[in-house]
Amino acid sequence: MGYHLGAWRHPDLRADAASQFDSYLNVAKIAEENKFDLLFLADGIGIRYDDVPKGSLCRSSHNVELEPLTLLSALASRTRRIGLVATASTTYNEPYHIARKYGSLDQISAGRCGWNVVTSWSEQEAWNFNRAKHLDYDTRYERAAEFVDVVTGLWDSWDADAFVHDKESSVFYDESKLHVLGHVGKHFSVRGPLSVRRSAQGRPILVQAGTSEVGQQIAAKHCDIVFAAQQNIESAKKYYASVKNRLSSNGRTEDDLLLMVGLTPIVGRTRDEAQEKYRQLEELIDPLVGLSILKRSFGDLSHLDLDGPVPKPDLENAGLRSSAQMYYETAQREGLSIRQLYKRIAMAQEHLTVVGTASDVADAMEQWMDAKAADGFNIAPTHLPHALNDFVELVLPELRRRGRFRDEYEGETLRENLGLQVPRSMYA
Ligand SMILES: Cc1cc2nc3c(=O)[nH]c(=O)nc-3n(C[C@H](O)[C@H](O)[C@H](O)COP(=O)(O)O)c2cc1C
Repeated sequence: MGYHLGAWRHPDLRADAASQFDSYLNVAKIAEENKFDLLFLADGIGIRYDDVPKGSLCRSSHNVELEPLTLLSALASRTRRIGLVATASTTYNEPYHIARKYGSLDQISAGRCGWNVVTSWSEQEAWNFNRAKHLDYDTRYERAAEFVDVVTGLWDSWDADAFVHDKESSVFYDESKLHVLGHVGKHFSVRGPLSVRRSAQGRPILVQAGTSEVGQQIAAKHCDIVFAAQQNIESAKKYYASVKNRLSSNGRTEDDLLLMVGLTPIVGRTRDEAQEKYRQLEELIDPLVGLSILKRSFGDLSHLDLDGPVPKPDLENAGLRSSAQMYYETAQREGLSIRQLYKRIAMAQEHLTVVGTASDVADAMEQWMDAKAADGFNIAPTHLPHALNDFVELVLPELRRRGRFRDEYEGETLRENLGLQVPRSMYA
């Protein structure tokens, strides 16, 4: 359990941690005790790899995990302050389901819930939902844009003060404060209203991770957080500006959307200790698993010399276009071989990796924030809870010393703790 693709083989870890509720609860408690904003769960709705090269699938732990919304509902009842963000796909759900489930989790958690909007990228997911092929990229995103419009519309069904609960007059709610969406579009026909009331934070936090043009448009129109996979500060600055520049035409300000960069810290008390941890983690990566990771961006490379150069990806057909592009650029820039590239990706997937002391990690974080390349970070520990504990014990005190991290939660809801305004209802 963790972002490192060989984490399950780590000698200190329970190999089946990804299926154990207690493992997640432990991580959530550590994060909450140390005042993290939120716990973020990525998701895929199926085993998203095929067995190419042969023997790779049975060597991977990413084939069993718990369904995130179910998991977060359980965590909501055992935590009080930490935000809980789960991923769900717009391709294989209906907007009413998503609005209702996340709306309910937002009630259960008293305003601490968020939805990471994804369109899914694998053929294997399509096979689980009555389709022989995955929807093409443009259709997927067109559907996603309309999907999010419908969900946010449904979340505006009730004004905050709609429920009067007047036992005397027998009036449960004020009729004028209920709004029927009546959406009829290309992909969806949804009357509404939603059978869940408005939450303490107005509506769940919306997160988006796509980097493409249309992904950014969805983020600029509706989202509170963009989760970015960026490894290079210069390209991150461009991406940051590109996302923020789209906000004003959507009637929003730069402060309404936070850009969080995925960060994998490998921290030691000395640089040598950190490098040694990195080296130990590298040893956990099986070459077959390494090649299977590259397959979704580059196709099967097992016939090539692993110590030779990385070939150019076919971007049109890559499931994760932005990742394929980024991996290729990284390999070009740093002259990485196929083996070096998969080792790099397996360490932290597409996230920024900093190997060093607490000061090195804090320096990098400050540098990215001060350069307007990030508003914050989504910490993606290699293996849990150990790498999270390293961050908590070593890096957090350093960040606090520099006045860069809170001592206590500022508010009750996730939105308050993120410093975000409650969005106005479309009927206001
Ligand atoms: C940091 C990051 C995290 C992502 N997490 C998920 C996920 O949990 N589940 C999923 O199906 N897709 C995930 N994606 C895929 C994106 O939602 C999106 O479909 C993909 O990046 C392709 O869109 P793009 O070309 O606009 O980037 C993630 C992407 C990024 C960059």
